[in-house]
Amino acid sequence: MTIEPAKKHTEPVEDWATDYDIFDPGYVKDPFPTWDELRGKCPVAHTERWGGSWMPTTYEDVRKIAANVDIFSSRNPLVATVGELAVASPEMEQRASAGAPPISSDPPVHTWARALLLPKFSMKEVSAYEEETRELCRSLIDVFLDKGRADAATDYAQQIPARVIANLLGIPQERAGEFTEWVQGFLEYGLTDVNMRSGSAMQMVSFLNEQIQDRKANPGDDLISYLLSAKADGAPDPIPESHVLGTCFLLMVAGIDTTWSSIGAAMWHLAQNPDECRRLIDEPELITSAIEELLRAYAPVTMAREVTRDAQYDGCPMKENDKILMNFPAANRDPEKFEKPDEVILDRKINPHIAFGVGIHRCAGSNLARMEMRVAIEEWLKRIPEFRLEDPAAVTWAGGQVRGPRKCMVVF
Ligand code: HEM
Repeated sequence: MTIEPAKKHTEPVEDWATDYDIFDPGYVKDPFPTWDELRGKCPVAHTERWGGSWMPTTYEDVRKIAANVDIFSSRNPLVATVGELAVASPEMEQRASAGAPPISSDPPVHTWARALLLPKFSMKEVSAYEEETRELCRSLIDVFLDKGRADAATDYAQQIPARVIANLLGIPQERAGEFTEWVQGFLEYGLTDVNMRSGSAMQMVSFLNEQIQDRKANPGDDLISYLLSAKADGAPDPIPESHVLGTCFLLMVAGIDTTWSSIGAAMWHLAQNPDECRRLIDEPELITSAIEELLRAYAPVTMAREVTRDAQYDGCPMKENDKILMNFPAANRDPEKFEKPDEVILDRKINPHIAFGVGIHRCAGSNLARMEMRVAIEEWLKRIPEFRLEDPAAVTWAGGQVRGPRKCMVVF
């Protein structure tokens, strides 16, 4: 299969309503004023850049579009590159043929693909990983505590989710660094570099294929073994290997960059708000609402939909195969839905945020993500109650479809 680079422009944006650029460096760093401007002026913006897309910015529009799965399909949830996974051989093509279910599936496949996964991500199942995650956080902090400075993004946030996913899939934690590189190559750099994206995808497909063959021969109590023999109403029995591979691929992609970005953004925020750190230490019960508020304010994920047939949405002439960017982060800052949306209020009482999406594709790993965030913040504050950004101007952010800090030096 050939993959063509999507059309892009390099000129600066003059009109965000008709020509937005989700990779514009200023926008990546601080998208909030742009969303405010668009909500007032043109709530569903459009661009021809990066293959072309529409972008709703209000809570109601994002919710309504997510609810209409008939017109707004999840068959290709990424933007910017044209085509599905690049494949190195017909065998690889067959193995990658299921996409990344359930995030890339529509009903009826979505229904059973999601049902297969949910039991493994219940609060009870997730709690089994909490103690290991705590130990992991402590061991990461041990490495830099005496130095008085650390990169909260790369030395800490980035290190946690890949190891948790490795545990889940029954893969040695030593391989977590490779996972992170592949996921970053696929979902971060890969959105603007088709060769990087397909190369990283192939490495993940080939690695997961090896793992699946191993689990067939030596089943264990890991998620790959579970999926190989799992059953759900409406699902084929046995579940095809290509489906198991696609789902494991999704878990790596969905579980790593996203959670690392949320933990990183939380650390970045706390580094600038010592009073809030103090409050979290003095009132530990506040952590639950604080996590929800940090997720709301710094929601990292924007997934895409594809229009299945020509349709008008709120006066916008959408054409078959047009992309829609589900701007969950902008919805979470909509003043029609949230009071003082740009303030982080750790004990916000009413917080129906959609950082985990909304509708049938709502994040299946939200219990796991919340646990990782909570444990990461708790363990950090126990050992490092006071810290601040070394140089606020030196913090860098990744943007596109997952936004979060990538360099965030703090001193303590
Ligand atoms: C803070 C971290 C996370 C955030 C903000 C997040 C966000 C999201 C969002 C917005 C969606 C919906 C996408 C759409 O509507 O197209 C989603 C779906 C999904 N997420 Fe997460 N996610 C996070 C962590 C995780 C983790 C840790 C896992 C599992 C390891 C995971 C697994 C999934 C899966 C399987 C789906 C697809 C659900 C479906 O299509 O039914 N996510 N996530």
